[in-house]
Amino acid sequence: MTADEQKKAAAIAALEYVKAGNKVGLGTGSTANHFITALAEKARGGFDVECVATSRASFQLASSLGLRMTTLEKQPHLDVTVDGADEFDGNYQLIKGGGGALLVEKIVATSSRYMVVIADQSKKVNALGKFPLPVEVVPFGVNATAWKIERALKLCDLKGKMQLRLKDGKPFVTDSGNAIIDVTIGHIPEPRRLDNLIKSIPGVVDHGLFIDICGIILMGTDDGVKTFRKG
Ligand code: A5P
Repeated sequence: MTADEQKKAAAIAALEYVKAGNKVGLGTGSTANHFITALAEKARGGFDVECVATSRASFQLASSLGLRMTTLEKQPHLDVTVDGADEFDGNYQLIKGGGGALLVEKIVATSSRYMVVIADQSKKVNALGKFPLPVEVVPFGVNATAWKIERALKLCDLKGKMQLRLKDGKPFVTDSGNAIIDVTIGHIPEPRRLDNLIKSIPGVVDHGLFIDICGIILMGTDDGVKTFRKG
């Protein structure tokens, strides 16, 4: 099975976690797109759900496929959010934000009764950190914020390579109008500690560590979809 086939299989398996009448958070990225497509197909058969998207791209895809869309302002309590991840470890901690939507993804996931992560098997790691940690920052004083992130890493005995994310040669701009600094760390032994340290830096809006947010992971493998369930 290719990685994309594994993503699709996990996305289809996630349909089981959505009940008729649910308010559903839709993630962002290639795996989430498979889920949006599968959910839309089910909805066309009469399965009624109302959805909140985590990015403009997901909103566009979902609405173009006919899913009934709402906003978090109108529906602040969601039943379930289904989203992809860049990495997950054995403690259900994640790195997200490779697609730049981490801020809204975290707001939507934490507004849901539970979050289901769908992924191909390459996303499973023993320890988080191989994937560069995306940190969403306000554009003002971006270099000052970067050195404060470096200082926070030092407090955890870590070093990171900072890279301002670019798109077409210009700073990448998130849906919320912010910039992203990708921090290559390699290995994050204490994700919870780093979560708090980075989050407390002025200028940091949020970052891609999702700590204690996800409870179910569906991982596509060559032998079918494997389910990891917390507790
Ligand atoms: C989007 O900002 C990310 O959090 C994605 O969920 C993550 O990058 C996974 O993307 P893929 O599903 O495309 O691998």
